[in-house]
Amino acid sequence: MRKLLIANWKLNPEREEAALNLARAYDLPGVVVAPPFVFIAGLSRVLKRAVLGAQNVFFEKKGAYTGEISPPELFDLGVRYVILGHSERRALGETDSLINKKIKASLRIGLKAVLCVGEPLTVRKRGAKAAQNFVKGQLQNDLRGIKNLKFKIKNLIIAYEPIWAIGTGRADRPEEAAAMADSIKEFLNLKFKNQNSKVLYGGSVNAKNAESFLSVKVIDGALVGGASLRAAEFKKIVKICGRY
Ligand code: PGA
Repeated sequence: MRKLLIANWKLNPEREEAALNLARAYDLPGVVVAPPFVFIAGLSRVLKRAVLGAQNVFFEKKGAYTGEISPPELFDLGVRYVILGHSERRALGETDSLINKKIKASLRIGLKAVLCVGEPLTVRKRGAKAAQNFVKGQLQNDLRGIKNLKFKIKNLIIAYEPIWAIGTGRADRPEEAAAMADSIKEFLNLKFKNQNSKVLYGGSVNAKNAESFLSVKVIDGALVGGASLRAAEFKKIVKICGRY
């Protein structure tokens, strides 16, 4: 099975030219590029192998919702993945019930929903079990009312991103991330009877530590922020990923 790499550019780069150059530099199979919305159309013209992702979406298809972007609009532009519930969006006020609506709307339209979950440092300090329970709580709330067939559960991907590891240069230990991935898969298996769910790891993944995560059987790929803005480094991660 091929593992998945998602490049989460966040609010970078500043100019479209730089965005197009970055996308061209690692337009490779197995890669999903999630740029800021405004660069999606431009990237759709240059990407040949990598697939387009988005960093957010609204839950309605159309209507009086100033400033929002809908799942069908993204799908029409060639977007196939959408990152939802990222801790940076939760920190801006996104609630579990809002995330829940966005997941449903995305799955209905045929987008792959990449749901980000992860505990803050205060929780992790209480131990691995406490962190696993925190994440299970998020999954319970974010996936409420989503039934297997109707919402195409195979299009649901979970990204485990401990908040304290994001953008800090302090990645989780691979064995801890693996235990969390196991716990998430057990939850999804119980809830949806789906034994093929995918769980990615995210949080300070770089070329040096990528192998320690990607070589783990229960970790199906990585969500990469900072290192995805450095083309040479990201290409190394893609190469490592190709071995597993
Ligand atoms: P990071 O970000 O790789 O810069 O830690 C990961 C993410 O926020 O998805």
